[in-house]
Amino acid sequence: MNNPKPKYYLTTPIYYANSRPHVGSAYTTIVCDVIARYKRMCGFDVAYLTGTDEHGVNIERAAEKLGISPADLVDRNQQIFRDLWKLLGISYTDFVRTTEPRHAVAVQNLVRRTQRVSPDAIFKRKYEGRYCIYDNLYVSDTPEPAACQICGRPAELISEENYFFRLSAYQEKLLQLYKDQPDFVQPDFRLNEVKSFVESGLKDLSISRKTIKWGIPWPGDPEHVFYVWYDALTSYMSGIGFVDGEKKDSERFKKFWPADVHMIGKEIIRFHAVYWPAFLMAAFPDKKLSDYMPGRIQAHGWLLFEQEKMSKSKGNVAYAEPIAKALGNDALRYYLLREVVFGQDGNFSKDALITRYNADLANGLGNLASRTLTMIVDYLGGRFPEEELPSAQQLGVSLGEKATLALGEVRQHYDHFDFAKALEVIWSLVSEVDQYLSMNKPWASIKVFGKQKFVTANLFASAATLRLICIMAHPVIPEATQSIWKALGQTEELEKAWNRELEWSGLKLGMQVTRPEAVFPRADKKEILERIETMENEIRNPGSTQPAAPSADSAPTAPIIAATGAVATPAIPAKIGIEDFAKVELRVGIVKSAERIQGADKLLKLLVDIGDEVRQVLAGIALSYAPEDLVGRKVVIVTNLAPRKMRGLESNGMLLAASVGPDGKPVLCTFAEDVPAGAKVK
Ligand code: MSP
Repeated sequence: MNNPKPKYYLTTPIYYANSRPHVGSAYTTIVCDVIARYKRMCGFDVAYLTGTDEHGVNIERAAEKLGISPADLVDRNQQIFRDLWKLLGISYTDFVRTTEPRHAVAVQNLVRRTQRVSPDAIFKRKYEGRYCIYDNLYVSDTPEPAACQICGRPAELISEENYFFRLSAYQEKLLQLYKDQPDFVQPDFRLNEVKSFVESGLKDLSISRKTIKWGIPWPGDPEHVFYVWYDALTSYMSGIGFVDGEKKDSERFKKFWPADVHMIGKEIIRFHAVYWPAFLMAAFPDKKLSDYMPGRIQAHGWLLFEQEKMSKSKGNVAYAEPIAKALGNDALRYYLLREVVFGQDGNFSKDALITRYNADLANGLGNLASRTLTMIVDYLGGRFPEEELPSAQQLGVSLGEKATLALGEVRQHYDHFDFAKALEVIWSLVSEVDQYLSMNKPWASIKVFGKQKFVTANLFASAATLRLICIMAHPVIPEATQSIWKALGQTEELEKAWNRELEWSGLKLGMQVTRPEAVFPRADKKEILERIETMENEIRNPGSTQPAAPSADSAPTAPIIAATGAVATPAIPAKIGIEDFAKVELRVGIVKSAERIQGADKLLKLLVDIGDEVRQVLAGIALSYAPEDLVGRKVVIVTNLAPRKMRGLESNGMLLAASVGPDGKPVLCTFAEDVPAGAKVK
C-alpha cells in the first residue's frame, strides 16, 4: 500500500473586511502561497486557509459612515479580497468568512465545550476599561484615558458586564508550552518577548461584548456577542470543518488539524501566541497537546512605506493590483521575497521594484532562458538527440556540481523560510550559466566544422541547469517558470517536481523545445510608474482616470497666465445654493503629530484625529508653522475631499486656513472655545 502523503496545514490571518487590501496585507498571503507551493512540490498534501474577519465595531462604524449595512459592507469587501487573491494566483484551498453560519456554530460550540470541560475557565463580571476599536485590543483595565500601544490612537471607554476568560490560570501552562516546544514562536527573539509578557503576569480577558450588535451571539445569552478575537481565531478551525470537537467534525478537519503554521504579522503575536493556545488548552484539556496545539506561530515584519508601516489609516499605501497588472504577479512576488529579509521590516519602493525586475528578471533569468532556448531551436532543430548524450567532460560537470549543491542549499533555505537567501543562491546559479555560455560561446562554435557535439554539450548543460532553476524558483515565480518549463519540453508536473532526489542530468531528452514568449520583457521605468500611478488613482478615486492633481508644493500661487498673456480666472458662479455648500463635510480635528517632508519646503505631514479616525493630511503650511507648534492644536478639516497624492504620500483631507497678504500666507482656522475632535462645522 502507498504511504499517504504527509499533511501540511498553513493559515494566513483572516483579514479585516472594513477596507481594501494593500501590498502590506498581500505580503502575508504571498509568503504563505510560496510556502504552500513549495510544500506541494515536496509531496505534502497542503491545506492553505485564508479568509475575512467580518465582525466588530470597526466594521459597524465603517458601514455606518458609508450609509450601508455591515452585512452589505463585508459582502462587498470580502469579494475584493477574493478577486485580489485570484489576480495574484494565490493557491489557497479554503476561505472562511466569520459571518458564515458554519463559523458561528463552531465558535458557539467551542465556548460550550470549554464551559463543559473547564468549568472555571469562563466567568461573568463587570468590566471598565479602555479599548482600541482599530486593533480590537484591551488597552487598559481602568477607565482613565489611555492610548493604544499598537496604533497610538486614543482608546475608548467601555463599561459593561462581560464574560471573561480566566487567562491568569494559564500562565504556567503557557510557559511550559514554550519550554516544551521551543520553536512554537518564531523568530526566536519574538518568543522571548512573548515569554516576558507572560512571565510578567496575565490578566483575565473579556471575551464578550454587550454594546456591540454586529457579532456572533453568546450561546444562551444573546444580549452578548463574542469579542472579535475569540471569534476570529476560531476561524482557523471552522474554516476546515470544525463543528464541535466531537463526531460532527469533518474528515478534512480531522486530517489537517492542528495547524502546522499560523503565519502572522508581528503586531498580532500576543493574540496568537498567548490567547489562542490558552483558549485551546481550556477547550481540550482532555486531549494530548500534540492533537490540538498549532505547531508554530510564525511572525513576519512589516512592509514599510516611507519608513512607516503601510496602512490605510496613515494613507501611505501602495496597491498590489496595479503592480501585478503593469509588471506581472511574478515581479511583485519576486521583489517582496527577495528584498524583504523574512521576519524583519522591509521597505517597499516602486522604484526599487522596477530596478530589481529589470536586473534579475528581465536581464537575468528571462534573458538566460531566451538565449538558451533560442539556440536549442536554431542550432539543434529544437531537440536534444536522445541517442548521443555528450560525455561528462563535455557537459561541463562543474556547472552540474554547482546546480546540485544549490538544490540542497535552496531547500534548506526554504525549510527555514529564508526566502531571500534561497533566491540569492538561485540567482547566482543564473549568473553561473550566463558565464558558462559566455566562456564556451556556442554561437561561435556552431560556425566551426566538427564542433556540433560541443555545441550540443554546451546547450545541454545550460538547459539541464535551467530545468533545476525552474524547479527551485517555481514557488516564488510560478508563472514564468511554468512557461520556461513548457518551452523546455518537460512533461512532468512542475508543481510536484521536488518530490524526490533530483538529478542535474535528468532533463527529458528527445522532446520538442520551443522558443519561449518573452517571459520578462524589459520595463521602461517611467512608463511603468505612470501606469501604476494611474491605476492607483483609479482605485483611490473610482471613476477618475485623470492623472494625479499637481502637488500643493508645486502648485502655482499666482494666477495662471494664459498663452495670450491675459490672466485666466476660473469661472465661479457668484452665489451657490445651500445644497452645494452642504456637500462639503467640515469637522474639528486635533493635530496628533506633524513633521516635515524631505524635499518639499512648503509641505507638512500631519496626523489629525477627527473623532472616529486619525487621518493623514498634507498641508502647504511649512513656511508659516513649525511642526512642533501644531501638535495639540484644533483645526478645521474638509473630511469628504477625495484623497490625493503628493510626493508619493496620500493626503486624506484639507485644512482650512485664511490666505493673508500678497503672498497668501496661510493662517489656520481654529477655535477659542473647547470643542471635541470630530464635531461638525457648518
Ligand atoms: N483580523 C486580524 C487577524 C485575525 S486572525 C485570527 C488582522 N487583520 S488585518 O487585516 O489587520 O491584517 C492581516 C494581515 O496583514 C496581518 O498578518 C498583518 O500583519 C498583515 N499586514 C497588514 N499590514 C501590513 C504591512 N504593512 N506589512 C506587512 N504585513 C501587514 O490583524
